[in-house]
Amino acid sequence: MATILEDYIAKHPGSAQRYLEASEIFPGGVTHDTRYAQPFPLYMTHGEGPRKWDVDGNEYVDYVSGHGALLLGHSHPAIAEAVSKQIQLGTHLGASTDDEIRWAKAIKALMPSIEKLRFHSSGTEATLMAMRLARAYTGKDKVIKLQDHFHGWHDYAMAGSDRSAPGIPEASWGTMVVVPPDDLSAVGDVIKRDPDIAAIILEPTGAHFGQLPLDVPNYLTGLRELTAQTGVILIFDEVVTGFRAAPGGVQERYGVRPDLTTMAKIVAGGLPGGAVGGKAEIIDMIAHRNDPDWDNNHRVYHPGTFNGNPLSAAAGATALEMIATQPINQQADVMADRLKKGINYVLGRLEIPGHAHGIASMIHVVLADCACDRELCTMSHAKIVEANGSPAVTAMKRGLQNRGVDIMSRETFLVSGTHTEKEIDHTLDAFQEAMAAVRADGLI
Ligand SMILES: Cc1ncc(COP(=O)(O)O)c(C=O)c1O
Repeated sequence: MATILEDYIAKHPGSAQRYLEASEIFPGGVTHDTRYAQPFPLYMTHGEGPRKWDVDGNEYVDYVSGHGALLLGHSHPAIAEAVSKQIQLGTHLGASTDDEIRWAKAIKALMPSIEKLRFHSSGTEATLMAMRLARAYTGKDKVIKLQDHFHGWHDYAMAGSDRSAPGIPEASWGTMVVVPPDDLSAVGDVIKRDPDIAAIILEPTGAHFGQLPLDVPNYLTGLRELTAQTGVILIFDEVVTGFRAAPGGVQERYGVRPDLTTMAKIVAGGLPGGAVGGKAEIIDMIAHRNDPDWDNNHRVYHPGTFNGNPLSAAAGATALEMIATQPINQQADVMADRLKKGINYVLGRLEIPGHAHGIASMIHVVLADCACDRELCTMSHAKIVEANGSPAVTAMKRGLQNRGVDIMSRETFLVSGTHTEKEIDHTLDAFQEAMAAVRADGLI
């Protein structure tokens, strides 16, 4: 019997060939670090709803979901129509537009903590601006960040990750204070000890959209009280969880209002886009006041060629209006629950140590046992990270790809509102076969 790797190579000759060419052009042969894969990544041609197809004609049930952007699935007809209409009218009018107002209103309707906002082109820009706004508003320099939490790739965001740091000046990390997650007293101690703390930023369900879960809602409620008492700005990075953890994000799901929220992915309906929103007096640090001293010396500067661009505005407004009025999250959550239960059943039946956990439409597999409630995994984060580093996890991903299922990173399923029982049941059959293949390869 062929190994998982042999099967992968045999099934994807077109991808192998393209990777040879791409390796001459792109560093690592790819255009996004998480797409790097050995012996080669897969090349896709198109997607529709919950499915997509590769250059060799293989069909996949897709759980990468556009790195989390596609709650409405691939090429949703309403988004395609909105974008097609707008593209005829212009992709950049070099001016303000009706659709940017419509887009902002759709965000505000779903997230009442957002009084005002500004648009960006990505989540990385949104978290950079949130930190800058907090620093400008408080007149303080330092931002607290949780170990392993991901906020994009700008210099400040990279503090406290396990990534290497070439190219990042020590000085920028000197303004970041990294604390262990889920430890309120660690945050309290930093704020007490250091009078220069402007803000704390976090992924509010835990690092990597809940792969390393926080004790929610207790930790969030505790942080809200602590930051309100001390005047530290609370920033929820809802780039992934926004409009997915609930239509109004984690802040709606757990009823905790941050001062600032960063958004991207779903917010732009599957096109590039991001936003930072929150308390008007903080966001208004960007506002002109027709006062030369304020405008030139105190205001936070915010240009950006594609801020609020018409295509993203049309797609984003359309997507968010649908999320507000249709049971899209409900469908994604019900299917994700079916998937989670099915994965736990298969692992149990095959007697493979492991479990699936997660909330809403974000499901994480850990190949190690745990007695958690399958919503918030209670294993130590170190143990989850160790389990995720196992070669069995890479084999699981490849084994799934060999059977027509593509997942986010190496162990996460992001479910859309277009997945149905048919896709979930196909996925569970593929999962069972893939895990049997991982065992046959001697990896579990
Ligand atoms: C929580 C979080 N914040 C920020 C970002 C950065 O967003 P972008 O990739 O749009 O720059 C990401 C990207 O995955 C993310 O997951």
